[in-house]
Order: sequence, then C-alpha cells, then structure tokens
Amino acid sequence: MEKKTDIQKILRKNVARLSRYTSARDEFTEPAEIWLDANENPFGNGINRYPDPRQRKLKEAIAKLKKVKKEHVFIGNGSDEVLDLLYRAFCEPRLDNVIVTAPSYGMYEVLAKINDVDCRKANLNADFSLNTDNILEQTDENTKLIFLCSPNNPTGNTFDARAIEYLLKTVKSLVILDEAYIDFSQKPGFINKLSGYPGLVIVQTLSKGWGMAGIRLGLGFASEEIINVLDRIKPPYNINLLSQQQALTRIENCKEVIEQIKVIRIEKQKMKESLQQLSAVKKVFPSDTNFLLVAIKNAGDIYTKLIAKGIVVRNRSGILHCNECLRITIGTPEENKRLLTELKKITQ
Ligand SMILES: Cc1ncc(COP(=O)(O)O)c(C=O)c1O
Repeated sequence: MEKKTDIQKILRKNVARLSRYTSARDEFTEPAEIWLDANENPFGNGINRYPDPRQRKLKEAIAKLKKVKKEHVFIGNGSDEVLDLLYRAFCEPRLDNVIVTAPSYGMYEVLAKINDVDCRKANLNADFSLNTDNILEQTDENTKLIFLCSPNNPTGNTFDARAIEYLLKTVKSLVILDEAYIDFSQKPGFINKLSGYPGLVIVQTLSKGWGMAGIRLGLGFASEEIINVLDRIKPPYNINLLSQQQALTRIENCKEVIEQIKVIRIEKQKMKESLQQLSAVKKVFPSDTNFLLVAIKNAGDIYTKLIAKGIVVRNRSGILHCNECLRITIGTPEENKRLLTELKKITQ
C-alpha cells in the first residue's frame, strides 16, 4: 500500500510558522536606473551589488539542463548546505531522528550531531547493496530523513532502483537521494521520477563531474512544496555573485565537461585493470563514480608511504565492510601513471 509523505505534517512547527525574510533585492527585481535600496557601495567594480537572491538565471539554466521545472530546483552553497537546510527544516532537535546507511558519506552524521538530531545507522549488506529491512527496522514516527547515497561514497556502487522505490513507497519521511556522483554514472538517476514521489529529495553537486568544487554549488531537486520550505529558511544571498556567474558560464559551455568525464571514465577502467595486476591488490570494487575502492594488503602502510611520495589517497580501512581499503580518486592521465608507478615500487 502506498503511503504519501505529507510535508506539512513532518515540517518543524517553527518553520511552518516562519514568514521568510525578504531582502532588498527580493522586493524589486525589474531593471532600474538607480539602485539606492540595499546600502551598497555605488561605485561599480563588478561585485559591488548583491547577487540575485533567487538565482533566477542559473536556476533556469539548471532546470533546462536537468529537464525539470525551475520551481523544482534549489541551489545551495555546496550540497552540504542543502543537506543542512533539510535538517533545519524537518528535524526537531532532541526529538526527531534520521537514518543513514553505513558505510556512506560522513557528513550526514556530522550534520545530525550539529543539529542535535539522533542519527541511526542501517548497515548495507556486505556486498554494499541496500538492506531495506535494516532501514525499516530503525524507522519510527519521529524519523524525518532517510539518506541514501547512490552511487555511494565510498563504495562506488549504485543501489538497486527497485529497493529505493520500495522505500519511497513505504516510508512517510523524506528520502534524501544523494546523487553527487551521478554525472560519472551510465545508469539513470531518479530525477525523472520526482513527480511520482512527494517525499523524494535529490541532491546533486557541481563539485564532482562539473569540476567546480571551488565555487561551492550544490543542487536540490524536489516538489515545489519542499523547495518553498528550503527557500524560506536559506540565508538570503546564499549563492555569491561569482559562483552564479561561473556556474552559468560552465553550464552554457558544457562540451568541455562532457569530454573530461569521458576521459575520467576511460582512465578509471585503465586504472582498474592496472591495479588488478598488482599482487598486493585483493579487489577493485565496481564503481559508477570517479573513484575506485581498492582492497589492498597493508592499506594503512601503503597510504603513509604514498603520502611520503607526495600522493594523497583516502584510507577507508577503519569503516564497515571496507577493511584494508583505499579510496582512490581518478586523476589526470599523468597523475594516474605516477600513482601506479609509486604503488608498484611500494608493493613490490
Ligand atoms: C556523496 C557526497 N555528497 C555530497 C558531497 C559534498 O558535495 P559539495 O561539494 O556539493 O558540498 C560529497 C563530497 O565529497 C559527497 O561525496
């Protein structure tokens, strides 16, 4: 039986009562000759004016790119801001809870701690697949957010779409589907399923495939009702002018990005094959992302030796199901060659 998520029911009461702060640039948006409404320095230097608080041009470009209506788009200062705003909108501190899968992206739990919200862990199966029973066992009437990261960091795999849809049909809380790595994947994401699930929030980012980690630009896609809630509680000018301009330019000239993603995919396959030839490597896990999770003998030792050579990878050995594992981001062809050369020397 399908249970529909009722946003007004799960929203925090204080947020439901809140009327949004309207900044000077919110109130009047038409072209004008003289702007004396926002106490800015009037002498033009390209950045003396506040940015568009509603990011209209950028939202339109993103909506077109993702084939959704602009009313379904939210832009955050990195997807970390989108995730944080979801906590602040829906989770009552010391009362509500969220569910994260383990292992997954660490910020979900850190944000729970910052927001004083109980964070419950539902382990993935040993093959990294989603265990919906584990998730449902942890869920109760105070569960507000369930975080699924697909393709998952640090395991690299995509969850079975049927398992995700089963959860979406079963729970009353929001399901936050973090698709940070979707641009590297050849499997379809969930963005075209938005209209079918009122509790679905998709989070993406320009930090990975789009090559713009430095400008901090994260994306949220959800029903208009959820987007309106996030709009109401976001800081008025959360996306600065330079980030909006840079993102717009890159989206309008996306050929380079497409080419780079192609190269990264090819490099990933080459890297996988080369790693599998090293006797120290026990397993290279399948990956729909721009990194490889590699089980390797003496992972901690290799990690330290690589650092001594000036190469930093991520040691994931301490976390569930990732015993003796390094997470290696795919670099440029030259960087990947260098990594392999050093790894060969270290492990011989
Ligand atoms: C799964 C996942 N989500 C979100 C983020 C953060 O993205 P952003 O740079 O947009 O804050 C990361 C960064 O590593 C990530 O791995």
